Amino acid sequence: MALLEVKNLNKIYEVGLFVRRQIHAVKSINFSVERGEIVSLVGESGSGKTTTAKMILRLEKPTSGDIIVEGINVWKDIKTVEDKKNYYRKVHAVFQDPFASYNQFYPIDRILHQALRLIDVDPNNPKSKELIEEALIHVGLEPKNILGKYPHQLSGGEKQRIMIARCWLLKPSLIIADEPVSMIDASTRGGIIKLFENLRDETGTSIIFITHDMGLAYYISNRIFIMYKGEIVEEGTPDDIISNPKHDYTKNLIGSIPTLYKKWEDIGELETRV
Ligand SMILES: Nc1ncnc2c1ncn2[C@@H]1O[C@H](COP(=O)(O)OP(=O)(O)OP(=O)(O)O)[C@@H](O)[C@H]1O
Ligand SMILES: [Mg+2]
Repeated sequence: MALLEVKNLNKIYEVGLFVRRQIHAVKSINFSVERGEIVSLVGESGSGKTTTAKMILRLEKPTSGDIIVEGINVWKDIKTVEDKKNYYRKVHAVFQDPFASYNQFYPIDRILHQALRLIDVDPNNPKSKELIEEALIHVGLEPKNILGKYPHQLSGGEKQRIMIARCWLLKPSLIIADEPVSMIDASTRGGIIKLFENLRDETGTSIIFITHDMGLAYYISNRIFIMYKGEIVEEGTPDDIISNPKHDYTKNLIGSIPTLYKKWEDIGELETRV
């Protein structure tokens, strides 16, 4: 059985105050994620990637369809506070702006303590300090340089590393990483991507990686799903997609992968097409 199964999933938003209008953000998509697999959802802005992630994370209710994680129907079987707590032990999010949803006046320690509470480790337990330090070291951070600081005292790369340290503490079955490196400079990006890979290799977690960047998806994924206007228009292994793209939109995405030292005048028509 796959770790995650998404079946016939739809999301229609109703917008407008006086004149109501419907936006079909996600259109009958189907996909699955196996244990230990890294899959990427790749698509242009507005193609429905984040909406899909939010429905899996129980932040947006689907209009129709099913999401099944480890045999549990996420919108039908999760009812009690305990069910929700169990679910968020298993499924974890890493967002583009990692601390947007956290109180800026709470030190980093508190964010990591919250994660420990989810796995029933009391922050006063001496073991908690050990676990936190170990997790920070796993993601290349020096605990004494991080603990006691506030979010505004950290760089973007450090913040994202802390989010990955949180994953080390929780060891979730599934991580949904929505544009986790798009606000980080290119030289730090590779290190962060490597941390996701290490986490998968050592804990067996599955990862859904959401990105606009086909080059990144090619590097990190076992399988890629291409989203276009709310639909999954193509799927395959990175080599399948790159060597034999079927959809015009996929061809454009591949054309947009930057090539080092390529001169402007050498860029073909496909790559410059908007
Ligand atoms: N709360 C909402 N109410 C109405 N429409 C919404 C809402 N959230 C998203 N949408 C619309 O749904 C569509 C899909 O949005 P979504 O955020 O999933 O795209 P995305 O693929 O994540 O784009 P990006 O790459 O820019 O993050 C867009 O047309 C967007 O305007
Ligand atoms: Mg998005």
